[in-house]
Parts: sequence; structure tokens; C-alpha cells
Amino acid sequence: MSEREPIGVIGVGWVGLCTAACFAELGHEVVARDILPEKVEFLSRGEIPMHEPGLSELVMKNADRLTFTTSMPDVLERTRLLFCCVDTPPTYSGDADLSRVNAVIDELGDSAEHAVVMKSTVPVGTGRAIKRRREDVGYVSNPEFLKEGSALEDFMHPDRVVVGAAETSKAFGDRVAALYESLGGPIVRTDVASAEMIKLASNAFLATKISFINEIANVSEELGADVREVARGMGLDDRIGPKFLNAGVGFGGSCFPKDVSALKQLAGNSGYHFQLLTAVIEVNELQKRRTTSKLQKHLGSLVNKEVALLGVAFKPNTDDVREATSLVLAARLQGEGAHVRVYDPVAADKAREMLGGAQVCDSALEALDGADAAVLVTEWPEFADLDWAGEVKQRMANPLIVDGRNFLDREALRAAGFTYEGIGR
Ligand code: UGA
Repeated sequence: MSEREPIGVIGVGWVGLCTAACFAELGHEVVARDILPEKVEFLSRGEIPMHEPGLSELVMKNADRLTFTTSMPDVLERTRLLFCCVDTPPTYSGDADLSRVNAVIDELGDSAEHAVVMKSTVPVGTGRAIKRRREDVGYVSNPEFLKEGSALEDFMHPDRVVVGAAETSKAFGDRVAALYESLGGPIVRTDVASAEMIKLASNAFLATKISFINEIANVSEELGADVREVARGMGLDDRIGPKFLNAGVGFGGSCFPKDVSALKQLAGNSGYHFQLLTAVIEVNELQKRRTTSKLQKHLGSLVNKEVALLGVAFKPNTDDVREATSLVLAARLQGEGAHVRVYDPVAADKAREMLGGAQVCDSALEALDGADAAVLVTEWPEFADLDWAGEVKQRMANPLIVDGRNFLDREALRAAGFTYEGIGR
């Protein structure tokens, strides 16, 4: 048995499983609890119900230190720090649904030895509200900043670790901070509300950066500038930085759309109108739809046109399709009368029900066969490796490509006879 602090993980979704596997890798005994018996059975057999590079291997490697269970008493008995990783989906009102978080709090006994370490993304003020209900419980806010597709790397090499605790939970805060010390990133100690806000504000800022560059892209198209050159020139300014300046067909995923709305809603609930975030959301919604007019510019009416969508996942290296641009595009294009075929290396099956009858193909070439246009929605590396000038060109009925991520080699495609439309260039 390890001498390090044992870790409890409550809710074994993507965040919970990455957290559990990484703490096990750091040498901790981890007891991870989920309410779904079938999920616990899967995990106990080493089956990983999601696509995250390296996760399966890390779970296998650390199987001796990882226990999956449905039993809360088991977790309470074996661990003291309980990392709450349940999901907080948006409600119809746009507020975060805290029912799962509250259910976890209700299951805690009255031991002063336990602390909830909140990793789930919660509205600012949640920690304070929980402490009002359960004064006896230790409470630490420790938001996650993991990106899907590189979560393990992000955990092991954090830009920063945020640990928020009230004075009464300071000792628990120290214990949580100590868990991350060996990783070397700066540890930001703060109060609970500020820690909660750091998480929401970080995602809202990154989403703003994307909507900003997408608007620069749209204006660049009108004025003859190339957004990639613009972003390169802007990004060299230290204060701006080069990351998250890739113009494209909009941001998706389980975090940005949800967290931007949640922060906007939270501000509204407290009487403040967060105008900037309203614009960020609207720009993104429109960005997801702009491809339709790019296709119409070349094809005229889309009725009975065959359109291939390359990529369904909201970004590469994940099978997550939540808020993915592909879903909006598939619906819009079918609404215009087009026949839509989609291909994704890992995510298409998961999305089948959400694609409104679009044909799901087994390969990019199958999707492109006879197509009047191709739209690159997700920048999976394999799409750059296709033989565009040869096999793809021969198979397509009409060589038109809308490169929704400015990912392909524009000059090579044009030289091969393709009509190429990028974003903002
Ligand atoms: C995001 C944050 O980056 C993480 O720090 C955070 O922990 C996570 O949300 C979360 O709250 O859990 P993630 O949703 O995995 O991570 O995805 P990102 O890599 O941030 O990409 C989000 C979307 O923005 C994708 O659709 C991507 O294609 C798009 N994007 C990103 C752009 O359109 N342009 C860019 O320059 C960057």
C-alpha cells in the first residue's frame, strides 16, 4: 500500500477518470466511485468508455492502486480528500445544474475528517452555499484545466494549479496543494469564490479570443487580408500570445459553450449584463453556419448536392461531439436540401443519432466519393495525409473544398485544380 495520501474520486466521467489515473500514477491509492454499476464493472475490467490518448494505458499500468466502486461508504472509509468530479450540465434556464453536486454533499457523513475537493465546474458562490448548508464539511475548490485530447499531459505539467479554501478549511487546502507540488507548476492559493471565478473566467477569455479572431477572419475575407498572417503578427506581441488565434468554424465541446453561458447567466442573476459574453456566444453560433453560404457561392442551390463533412468531433483526438460544429452544419445543409455524408475516425458512431439522417461513412474516401463539395470540420491529422491531388480529386464529382480549420495546403490544392475556400483568407 502506498504511503501517499489516499484519494477519493466521486463521479468517474472524463474528468474523474483522468484525475483518478493521474493521481494513481503519482503513487496514490485511489478509490473512484460512480453511481452507475455497469460503468464500474467496465472500468474494473479495464475497459475505458471514452477516447483520451494514453488513458487506457495509464489505467492499466496503475490498476493495483485504482479501485472502482459504487459504494460511498467505501470511499469515506478509505479516503479523506474526496475529489468531486460529477458533471454540471446546463439547465433550460442556462444556469448550471447542481443536482449531482448536491447529491454528493448529501451523502457525506458528519465527519470533520473529510473534505470535498471541487473539480466539477460550478457557479461562483457554490462553495459558499455548500458551507452554509454543511458547516462541518471541509471544502476546497480545485478547478480542472485539462484539455480533451491532451488531458494527461496537462495534468502532469500544469500551467498552474488553483487551490481555493476558506480559513476554516486551510489545512485541507494545504493537503490538496501538497498533492501537486511534485508537478512543478505554480500553485495559486486563494479564497473559494476567486478559485471558482478563475475557472469560468479562463474559459470565457479563451472563448472570447476565438470569437475575436473569427470576426477578424470574417472581416479579412471582405477586405483581402489573410487571418493566418494577421494572427501570426498579432501573436508575437507577448501581451496577446500566439495560442487560440486559429480562426475556424466555431468552438464547441462540453466546456466553452456551457461555461460562457453559465458565467453570462451568473452575472445576469446578480444584476449585471455581461454584454461581451453575449456577443461571444452569438459570433460563435453564426460562425458555425457560415459554411452554408460558402458552399452556395460555388454551387448555387444545395438541393440534392452531395456534401462530405470530414470530422464530427468538436476537435481532434477526442470522440466528444457535444456542441460540435458538425452537428449544426449537418442540420443546416440538410435543411437546404443537401445530402450529407460524414466521416470521423472515432466520433461518428456516437453522433449518429444527432446527425439528422446524414450518412455515416467508414472512411474519408467513402464520404468523398461522388461529392460535390467537401467541408473539413475537424482537423484530424489523417485528413492532411489524404491523396488530394490524386485519389480524392478523381473520386469527387466536383473538386470544391471548404477548409473550416485552415488546415490543408491551400496552394497544393489549388495547383491540383481544387476550388479552395478557407476561413478568413
Ligand atoms: C477547454 C479548455 O481549453 C481547458 O483549459 C478546460 O479545462 C476545458 O475546456 C474544461 O473546462 O474542462 P477543451 O474543451 O478540451 O478544453 O477544448 P479546447 O482545446 O480548449 O478547444 C475548444 C474549442 O475551441 C474546439 O472546438 C476548438 O476547435 C476550438 N478552437 C480552439 C478554435 O476554434 N480556435 C483555436 O485557436 C483554439
